[in-house]
Amino acid sequence: MREVTASAPGKVNLVLRVGAPTADGYHPLATVFEALDLRETVTVRTTRTPGTTVETVAHLPGGDIDRATGELMRAVPPRSHLAVRAARAMQRLAAAGPWASTAAGLAIRVDKRVPVAGGMAGGSADAAATLVACNELWGLGLGPGQLERIGRTLGADVPACLTGGIALGTGRGDRMAPLECPGTHHHWVIALAHEGLSTADVFAEFDRAVQGTAVPAAPTDEELADLTGPARLAGPRLVNDLTAAALSLRPELGGTLSASRAAGALAAIVSGSGPTVAALASSADHADEIAERLAAAPAVARVLTTMGPAPGARVEHQDER
Ligand code: C5P
Repeated sequence: MREVTASAPGKVNLVLRVGAPTADGYHPLATVFEALDLRETVTVRTTRTPGTTVETVAHLPGGDIDRATGELMRAVPPRSHLAVRAARAMQRLAAAGPWASTAAGLAIRVDKRVPVAGGMAGGSADAAATLVACNELWGLGLGPGQLERIGRTLGADVPACLTGGIALGTGRGDRMAPLECPGTHHHWVIALAHEGLSTADVFAEFDRAVQGTAVPAAPTDEELADLTGPARLAGPRLVNDLTAAALSLRPELGGTLSASRAAGALAAIVSGSGPTVAALASSADHADEIAERLAAAPAVARVLTTMGPAPGARVEHQDER
């Protein structure tokens, strides 16, 4: 019996520029991802019984179990769980290799710390961690480029969770170019909404409002330098073209954005397709102060503090029994 544990980060988009959808319905993006210290941990174990099982345990920041999110995840049919889909993609490769005899049975455990349906790529992080874990479990020896290629077939944010750090994403947001950010530490306050939003719904709302043939403007070198450096008092210019669409579906998010600024955040933004709001602080203490004030905002269900940039998906440990 072999067991491998891997982890992968959630993310915020520092910049999210969106163009008009192409024939496949996907939107061309120019985006800058920052991976966060909120990580999903995935443990994969070979089993004698064929088939794939998945168990998801959600954790709250203090270490308590988040039962409501656990329930939500149990309602996801296993074949739609991104960890299972990632494992199946790797299983097809393993079935042809030296681990063929064990590739049939797999038990997956996902320990979630990234909010669900919050615009922070929790599902994609599950997939990224599973790809890395299965690569190790079955000794497939796939390199980062090959994992990225499989990852983008599972979801547009999977390559960002594999890469980590701060990275420019183009195409569907799935063509990654890592950016240098030596010594940069961003302190974030993450304000969670009472209810998640579907990414597809937010993009559809964007299309209703923005008709035409827009091409997403890539950030300039100067903007990239600002985003990858330490956060200054003026704050880097965070941009999200999906803000209006997310606010149109959830008007109360406008209150969370203004409450973040009123609480002293250097900058605040809707994370990806929302409804999570990410506020930038100048230090860990500043983040705690903002968090305390934001926790009282009416549309805020829960507040977390975290840091970025964080490393991409990686193996944490492995066991042979
Ligand atoms: O790739 P993923 O399954 O994570 O995307 C979820 C949904 O978000 C897609 O079905 C699509 O509606 C929308 N999307 C998009 N353009 C992108 C990324 C996602 O329209 N670049």
